[in-house]
Amino acid sequence: MAHTQRTSTERLTRLALIALLATAAGCASELDSNAYFPKTYTSDYAKIVKCEKSGAHGGKYVTTYVTKDAETPWKNKSYPFSEGTVFVKVGHSDSACSDISGYFAMKKLAAGSGGKAGDWDWQSLDADGQVTGSGQLGGCTGCHSGYKDNDFVGTLP
Ligand code: HEC
Repeated sequence: MAHTQRTSTERLTRLALIALLATAAGCASELDSNAYFPKTYTSDYAKIVKCEKSGAHGGKYVTTYVTKDAETPWKNKSYPFSEGTVFVKVGHSDSACSDISGYFAMKKLAAGSGGKAGDWDWQSLDADGQVTGSGQLGGCTGCHSGYKDNDFVGTLP
């Protein structure tokens, strides 16, 4: 009896450890709850760029998504985009776009919000989906200011 009890305690401890490790691993790959886009973006957003080399974002390969409502306006170049539009650019280090090296996002604010490059907020996330910067990020707005004619969006249809 005593022996059985010890064994089941050991087994429980081992199970608890495994559960703890699994949770820790799961957390690392979870998308930050402060991200401008949901973790279901691959199915909920429209994919507007499949997999192409981007000279601007660190010479990496990128896949670009936009909120579904903005897909037609984007195709028709009907600017400005409406409030709540989110563009997500997923960075990849390989030409097959199989891994994720980071994310870049821009979220449309209310008209007249007075952002540094149009009415947008900017966000960068690391490979694990954790936010590394949000808001009026000078590194982003400086370059995107050049795309004023397309509502500060660099990707054209
Ligand atoms: C050196 C210029 C440059 C900088 C700096 C830059 N971008 Fe971009 N960005 C571009 C260009 C050009 C595109 C169009 C697609 C491409 O070539 O990758 C783009 C595309 C994007 C897109 C997809 C929608 C769109 O505008 O085409 C997002 C989202 C984005 N950038 C976010 C960011 C964020 C966030 C930062 C700062 C962390 C940033 N960018 C910094 C030049 C830049």
